Amino acid sequence: MFSVLVTNPKGGCGKTTIATNLASAFAGAGERCVIADVDRQLSSLGWLKRRPDTAARVEGLNWTKDLGKVPNKKGVLVIDAPAAVKDKKTAALIKRADIVVVPVLPSVFDQETTLAFLKQLDALKPIRNNKKSVAVLRNRVRRHTRAAARLDFFMIGTGRQDLGILPDRALYPDLAMQGLGVFDLETKQAQAMQQDWQPLLRFIEAAR
Ligand SMILES: Nc1ncnc2c1ncn2[C@@H]1O[C@H](COP(=O)(O)OP(=O)(O)OP(=O)(O)O)[C@@H](O)[C@H]1O
Ligand SMILES: [Mg+2]
Repeated sequence: MFSVLVTNPKGGCGKTTIATNLASAFAGAGERCVIADVDRQLSSLGWLKRRPDTAARVEGLNWTKDLGKVPNKKGVLVIDAPAAVKDKKTAALIKRADIVVVPVLPSVFDQETTLAFLKQLDALKPIRNNKKSVAVLRNRVRRHTRAAARLDFFMIGTGRQDLGILPDRALYPDLAMQGLGVFDLETKQAQAMQQDWQPLLRFIEAAR
């Protein structure tokens, strides 16, 4: 499977939201999609449990005790990393990933942690040798705020592939409650929100 790792040691930056919505995008497009949950809180697997039978099927793997192998199948594996992840585990996760997505919130605390994490990733061989790309996705952004402008500036400073912006939308927690993602809905609002995911989806398609 093509493997997408969503990671950032900062808690609450949107790893699970991004992992579950990505899964809904691939499953909705008719691809085989598996989520590997590395977080002991099992948020992604909880989302899967709530997922209605009528929604496009996503499979789950529990990687909390041991990291498993990437399944040898067609389709996409989305790996949902935990917060406060240790350096050794990050290195082990990177080994299992084809590409790495790092969400970041518009907050100086998140930005500082993210910068340190990006440096840590750069020190890892597969990333240093340009074998795996790391891209940054700005999350929970409220447009036209000073924090959003600072985050834009931060994004440029990272020198990483820019995956655009996911705005702060009340629909995300509502969908999470229902085991759904924006790609499971056909409402006008959901369709507009799906547009925000296009840079990330294009980035993944280009790497596959
Ligand atoms: N774009 C968004 N708009 C609105 N709410 C969001 C958005 N992204 C995430 N959230 C909300 O923010 C909270 C934290 O998100 P999430 O659980 O995805 O982060 P996480 O990085 O997986 O957290 P943890 O580090 O604890 O695993 C959740 O309540 C989620 O619904
Ligand atoms: Mg999470």
